[in-house]
Amino acid sequence: MNEIVAKVLQASGFDSLNPAQQAALDKGLLEGESLIVAAPTASGKTLLAEIAALDTIMNKGKKVVYIVPLKALATEKYEEFKSKYDPLGLRIAISIGDLDSTDPWLADYDLVIVSDFGHGFLTDNLINLICKHSKFLAVNTQTNSANMGFNLITEYTNIDYVALDELEIRYAAHNRTGELRSIMKIIAPKIHCKNLAITRGIHGAVSFCKELGFLSSPALATQVVDTIGAGDAFLSFTAPLAALEAPMDMVLFIGNAAGALAVQIVCNRESVSPVELKKFIATVFK
Ligand SMILES: Nc1ncnc2c1ncn2[C@@H]1O[C@H](COP(=O)(O)OP(=O)(O)OP(=O)(O)O)[C@@H](O)[C@H]1O
Ligand SMILES: [Mg+2]
Repeated sequence: MNEIVAKVLQASGFDSLNPAQQAALDKGLLEGESLIVAAPTASGKTLLAEIAALDTIMNKGKKVVYIVPLKALATEKYEEFKSKYDPLGLRIAISIGDLDSTDPWLADYDLVIVSDFGHGFLTDNLINLICKHSKFLAVNTQTNSANMGFNLITEYTNIDYVALDELEIRYAAHNRTGELRSIMKIIAPKIHCKNLAITRGIHGAVSFCKELGFLSSPALATQVVDTIGAGDAFLSFTAPLAALEAPMDMVLFIGNAAGALAVQIVCNRESVSPVELKKFIATVFK
């Protein structure tokens, strides 16, 4: 008997394959063929996946992803595979996005930057962990056509630095037309945010913090090719500055400089380079 098949049978407490399993083996399960196995519930389909997986890991030196449609099933399979294959030296992990963890490993990092694009990857549990353990937390909750009105900064709390665009904070405040500064003043304490920066495209950026109140800084772009990704460039460069406690007027200025370079890049083809940013800032002061 094939060594891998023998190992899986032994780990499962069986003596031999059933006819459906043998048929799958004969059709090339261990020869790298793609197979669709249609058989009733509890007829041993998982065992076939385990044989193929073990062969892939042990003989081919590759990794395996086992996908199921339900979280409960993922947990069940995780426990089962772990108890069966841990003894063979396989490392089994589970990813269902909302595992409860009390491990404060995030606290080892000086800065945690969250770009939440609202596709569901960041579950409530993960957000709670991030907000609880991050030493310095910087967040953007991106609005796009798929999540409009649902991906809100108000899901987060205890945020050290927030960078949103104007539409994003208006959604969070359910306020389309009110004065932006009043909206910022309402939202900042609601999410326990120390420094709030709002980007306004061609109108630059404005910030609010309790101690200094409002500061604003104009856009610096001279040539606009594609504005997509400008807000991300703003967040990427300003979050580390905010973590270093740089003065907010400097943070906004450098953010607008990064934005000015980002709007010259088509479709996020490249990122804004720190060298280009330094050069750009030098020309602004000339
Ligand atoms: N049309 C523009 N003209 C000049 N500067 C711009 C323009 N659009 C963006 N910028 C610069 O980029 C910064 C961030 O842009 P914006 O407010 O559009 O972010 P955003 O809406 O989050 O963008 P995205 O989500 O596509 O990354 C602005 O503060 C500004 O400095
Ligand atoms: Mg944005």
